[in-house]
Amino acid sequence: MKRGFILKANDFAEILPYSYETLLTKVQAVLKPKRFEHVKRVADTAEALAKQYDGDPIRARIAGIVHDYAKDFSDERFKSVIMSQKFDPELLAYNNGIWHGVVGTYFVQKDLQIYDSEILNAVKKHTIGAPTMTKLDQIIFIADFIEPGRDFPGVEAARQAAQVSLAAGVACELQSTLSFLIKNHKTVYPKTIDSYNAWVH
Ligand SMILES: [Fe+2]
Ligand SMILES: [Fe+2]
Repeated sequence: MKRGFILKANDFAEILPYSYETLLTKVQAVLKPKRFEHVKRVADTAEALAKQYDGDPIRARIAGIVHDYAKDFSDERFKSVIMSQKFDPELLAYNNGIWHGVVGTYFVQKDLQIYDSEILNAVKKHTIGAPTMTKLDQIIFIADFIEPGRDFPGVEAARQAAQVSLAAGVACELQSTLSFLIKNHKTVYPKTIDSYNAWVH
């Protein structure tokens, strides 16, 4: 699909059992207003990256909209799903920052009836990355970090890296995230280090 291609309502029918507008309404209902604005900017950024790098702009837009679907859910809700759905028990030692991606896919399927494995994987990986990431995984990982509302030290470098290649964008983001966690005495989820080792050379 080439740059400049404009998505039409019909394009979403393959993945969504309802309209794109309905998806927006469902997501808006569970997110704080600022976060809803963030996910729309991520969707726009992801769609643009998909067009630029010959990816799938429809999946990019949908994954962008749903990537933080569970971000405002309570810790209790996450903990009970981690136990009942047999997620890695090691996850219980972490927090919403990790859970909303890895465990968030459970809610995306259950509440939004989105079962597309490419989208679910991109949502799952958006918080910690992974040693192996598809083009869509990389696009969502980067779009979440560089969307136009982001304003933190290092974001400009990440925007520029994403213009060099998706891989450069992922590497820059992981480097920046790890440095931030370490500098601020925060715990690092071990899989984030696996991602770092795979992408940063
Ligand atoms: Fe997120
Ligand atoms: Fe996000």
